[in-house]
Amino acid sequence: MSVSFPPGFLWGTATAAYQIEGAVREDGRTPSIWDTFSHTPGKVENGDTGDVAVDHFHRRTQDVRLMAELGVNAYRFSVSWPRVQPTGRGPAVQRGLDFYRGLVDDLLEHGITPLLTLYHWDLPQELETAGGWPERDTAHRFADYARIVAEALGDRVVRWTTLNEPWCSAFLGYGSGVHAPGRTDPVAALRAAHHLNLGHGLAAQALRTQLPARAQVSVSINPSAVRARTESPADLDARRRIDALANRVFTDPMLHGSYPADLLTDTERLTDWSFVHGDDLAVIRHPLDSLGINYYSPSVVSSATDSDAPASERNDGHGASEHSPWPGADSVAFHQPPGDVTEMGWTIDPTGLYDLLMRYSREAPRLPLVITENGAAYPDKPAADGSVHDPERIRYLHGHLSAVHRAMADGADVRGYFLWSLMDNFEWAYGYGKRFGAVYVDYDTQARTPKSSARWYGELARTGVLPD
Ligand code: NOJ
Repeated sequence: MSVSFPPGFLWGTATAAYQIEGAVREDGRTPSIWDTFSHTPGKVENGDTGDVAVDHFHRRTQDVRLMAELGVNAYRFSVSWPRVQPTGRGPAVQRGLDFYRGLVDDLLEHGITPLLTLYHWDLPQELETAGGWPERDTAHRFADYARIVAEALGDRVVRWTTLNEPWCSAFLGYGSGVHAPGRTDPVAALRAAHHLNLGHGLAAQALRTQLPARAQVSVSINPSAVRARTESPADLDARRRIDALANRVFTDPMLHGSYPADLLTDTERLTDWSFVHGDDLAVIRHPLDSLGINYYSPSVVSSATDSDAPASERNDGHGASEHSPWPGADSVAFHQPPGDVTEMGWTIDPTGLYDLLMRYSREAPRLPLVITENGAAYPDKPAADGSVHDPERIRYLHGHLSAVHRAMADGADVRGYFLWSLMDNFEWAYGYGKRFGAVYVDYDTQARTPKSSARWYGELARTGVLPD
């Protein structure tokens, strides 16, 4: 049986600046940590960088036209911090701001609602050189940058997101080192998590001050749908630890104004958390207008001592590193959840999304939810006639949208869904090898070809009806 989504539901696609823009040296832009990282040999597969990416900086108008043709009514993009405030301090570069002003105008002209993310991982390199997210000052610099962007775009953008997936910035960037800036220091990772939280709160305040009547403020997290392998006390404790480090380290301060007591105990051998100052928690607990949820796949954990799984099965899905992204959780083993996988090796399981939507509905009953990312990588290739068929992606999207609909029927207040991604792009440490796009990109010619999933999704966006 087909199901319908309510009128006004946001049907969007999502991207991020460094993954699509290219033009990394144009108009005064300076390097971000991802420029430095991707140019460091061995950090990104195939030596790929975002130097050119999918050249969206020069193809912006055409890309917006493509979205309009598909039929989506919303678009989630990020602003590149080093493009608008090159060293992360001081005055803005007008030409950088002009690019985003033009983008937003193009979107509005086509009736597409913009969702602007302030930080999707491209910290100005100069701020990292000064210490990066483990340092408190970075949170204040982020709030200044938020003010600059709000001043420039607040007359035309209503929906603002402070951070994208702060877990990745903190724990992959400073813990396992598989993301920029590639540091492997568990204490730095915890400090980064706190200063990202603080930056979120300060930026939210800046947006409200700058845009008192208009701004709708949000943050996009990537909560882990984490399950215990068995109901044994040791496995349940492993689950609790990962839930604290993946989820509650962000949502407890943001939604409830405190850090989880068990997290402080689990990490006490590493830090006394004295980097949390006086009224930080009051700043971080800023009332939000919605919560963004990015979801791809669930996790299964056990106590490492209970585990008989070979090391190869213990990958947590976040890339290979000798260093753990889970400070203080050495006793936890990760297992591949059962089921089919996407090209990332991530198990396909829409129940994880349903569970997260129900969880946050209960935890923050009046807070609307938006799925700000969901999607899948597959090894798509054009057929002889140039068309690109991706039935697996349609199946993935269908399964997850059915789960979203079920959660809504069970009371979750979900306002929108953003497919990751509009088009194939730079998939961080995996480079261009992994294609998440609904639109195929030929990296030699930069030609864009909507895959069959793009047509399918556009139809859904236009009708609000999810077929059988
Ligand atoms: C999360 C990130 O926000 C996005 O940048 C990335 O490409 C997708 N997930 C897929 O890994």
